[in-house]
Amino acid sequence: MKKDFLTIRDFTPDELLGTFKLAAEMKAHPEHFATALKGKTLALIFEKPSLRTRVTFDVGIQQLGGFSVPLLPAEISLGKRESVFDVAKNLERMVQGIMIRTFAHQIVVDMAKHASIPVINALTDYSHPCQALADYLTVREIKGKLKGLKLCYVGDGNNVAHSLMFAGARLGVNVTVACPKGYEPSSLALSHAQEDAQESGARIEIVHDASEGVRNADVIYTDVWASMGQEAEGEKRKAIFRPFQVNAALMEKANKSAIFLHCLPAHRGDEVTDEVIDSSASFVFQEAENRLHVQKAVLYQLMK
Ligand code: CP
Ligand code: NVA
Repeated sequence: MKKDFLTIRDFTPDELLGTFKLAAEMKAHPEHFATALKGKTLALIFEKPSLRTRVTFDVGIQQLGGFSVPLLPAEISLGKRESVFDVAKNLERMVQGIMIRTFAHQIVVDMAKHASIPVINALTDYSHPCQALADYLTVREIKGKLKGLKLCYVGDGNNVAHSLMFAGARLGVNVTVACPKGYEPSSLALSHAQEDAQESGARIEIVHDASEGVRNADVIYTDVWASMGQEAEGEKRKAIFRPFQVNAALMEKANKSAIFLHCLPAHRGDEVTDEVIDSSASFVFQEAENRLHVQKAVLYQLMK
């Protein structure tokens, strides 16, 4: 196992399955792990807002017997008040793990390079690996398997889409990204995913038509059209992404038993309608809860 969890690609397929197994055990019997990380401290660095990540990492480390130190943007002022190198060299003497949510992916890479302790990526502009773990754990709970399923991500080819592709490629889940032209996943992410998919046999593809994308899909996934840091483009993107809204008519075109997932926060009425997110096909809150269980498994694997 690597020291850090910066991308889904840091875990082998077997390690990913091991994480799911451990997360399921922790979910069923949290009391068995109450002292697993006794006395260990996790720093939580946030340069962007958060509800789920903040609460699940904070509660998660406490449920394992440890402590957290949340650090908000104004407190560290990463790269301005102090360099990433100096922050890493300080924190490695004070805490046993670092969770970080930031903008440029290179910041988490640099933090991991300079810190002797585990570093966990809790979202960058490039990827959101903890989210993808929770997502596939949720699919596995509901569908009872992963290999051979089809997930269609409808919307912006962003950080969340990248991690879903990486994990699908590792786990043998076919991933179709249906997005407007010009909003595809990065070509680097696509080539990495397609390379990994050769081993699992997964098909990773991009289409520009939502109806085409969701055909035969078992899982329909969407995310906000403008991610954190892209707020200024919000209005422009609304017009471009409108044909990629996940509504009841689009869900009808997927498999009958298709489920709906969303990393949240959702902009109801934009990328998803109430009728879908509040329907019996939607498992978004189970998915949010699973952030807790799967991240506890990751903390245990890296910090034990
Ligand atoms: N899905 C997710 O990461 O939520 P937060 O931004 O609220 O942490
Ligand atoms: N793509 C979104 C995910 C939020 C959890 C963002 O980066 O804002």
